[in-house]
Amino acid sequence: MKVLVVGGGGREHALSWKIAQSKRVRRLFVAPGNAGTTDVAENVTLTDPDQPNSDIPRTVEFARQNQIDLAVIGPEAPLAAGMVDALEEAGIRTFGPSQQAAELEASKVFCRKLLRHADIPSPDFHVFHDAASALTFLTQREDVPIVVKADGLAAGKGVVVCDNSAQAAEAVERIATDKAFGKAGNQLVLEQRLVGQEISVLAVTDGRTIVTMPAAQDHKPAYDGDRGPNTGGMGAYSPTPLATEQRMRLIEEKVLVPTVHQLKRSRRPFRGVLYAGLILTQQGIKVLEYNVRFGDPECQPLMMRLESDLVDLLEATAAGRLDQLKPPRWDPRPAICVVMASEGYPGKYATGHAIRGLEDAAQLPDVKVFHAGTAMRDDQVVTSGGRVLGVTALGQTISAAKLQAYKAVKCIRWDGAWCRKDISDKALEPINT
Ligand code: GLY
Repeated sequence: MKVLVVGGGGREHALSWKIAQSKRVRRLFVAPGNAGTTDVAENVTLTDPDQPNSDIPRTVEFARQNQIDLAVIGPEAPLAAGMVDALEEAGIRTFGPSQQAAELEASKVFCRKLLRHADIPSPDFHVFHDAASALTFLTQREDVPIVVKADGLAAGKGVVVCDNSAQAAEAVERIATDKAFGKAGNQLVLEQRLVGQEISVLAVTDGRTIVTMPAAQDHKPAYDGDRGPNTGGMGAYSPTPLATEQRMRLIEEKVLVPTVHQLKRSRRPFRGVLYAGLILTQQGIKVLEYNVRFGDPECQPLMMRLESDLVDLLEATAAGRLDQLKPPRWDPRPAICVVMASEGYPGKYATGHAIRGLEDAAQLPDVKVFHAGTAMRDDQVVTSGGRVLGVTALGQTISAAKLQAYKAVKCIRWDGAWCRKDISDKALEPINT
């Protein structure tokens, strides 16, 4: 069969790498892909910088012309823009939620209201349509830690975690007055800030059957010890000991199942990856956010551990027959992914630096280096983004996987390369919830 993966980050390299292992796949395309995906797939460019919003019609045209049997949409933006709807209307089987179902991630207001309606444990929240009413609210309440969220998609930057009302007011002004994220800031959500360890639980669902994957833990702040500005994710590992069997049962029962039912009742049946960002508080597990796609970098350790055919899983989900599929098999060994980033990320950074040592890293057993922000220039792999590589390793224990991943990191170098040194250490912290 012929498969098209849409996206060009570390998640899409990991998905393409795993899809290419399927005996059923004859041809694999990635749009646009990166320097790493060229090892397993054919990269194609389906966006036209001179024609904004041309990517959906061009993707549909490409899928039709190339008789694509399965399209897999990686990032949230095309999902929120209705790429799945357009491909399916054209008769292309597609993995990912419809535009209406993708609102679970594309609108924080929609998500919060749906969770409240379904009585799914989540933080207290208030919705505002302008900066003035949000600022009045802040002055009228106790000075407590608060989270300010832009309603719409903001490339992971629209969530500001604040220690006090002054910081919250600053975030409100930036989002709602200065429109730092454009239309995404037309509505605001102000939420109670919760304390506890965060975990990512991803499940694939066809709207009736739910297949929950082993839990992962992301590391969003830039620097060791969870300090510094938020990023797209500086590393992840799976499984996490925080997700005990009992907790996973509770998450399925109290979070995933009611969410899928509520979406169905709202006439937005969900097919694709439901990614619950959860926090373990002393008052129990609560939903911080939902995403409607594989997490990046959570996808990388998950793909390293998946033993079953990913194409079977994606196709059965898209076709609505997940109930007929055997549960996926997972390598019991943990995997960790360390993100190597460009100097300056998550702020401004330069690109075009030559990356050396990729071959040495690839020689190490149980290591796979997934590319994210990379490109080819004159037969040389160069940096082209903020998050550049996801160096991923398996090990008998989390500590062994960590050791192997950092051994591989040491092989790789470019001007300004850096990474967090403590990915997976949170697995060793005491669990006090
Ligand atoms: N790892 C965070 C995200 O994918 O949104």
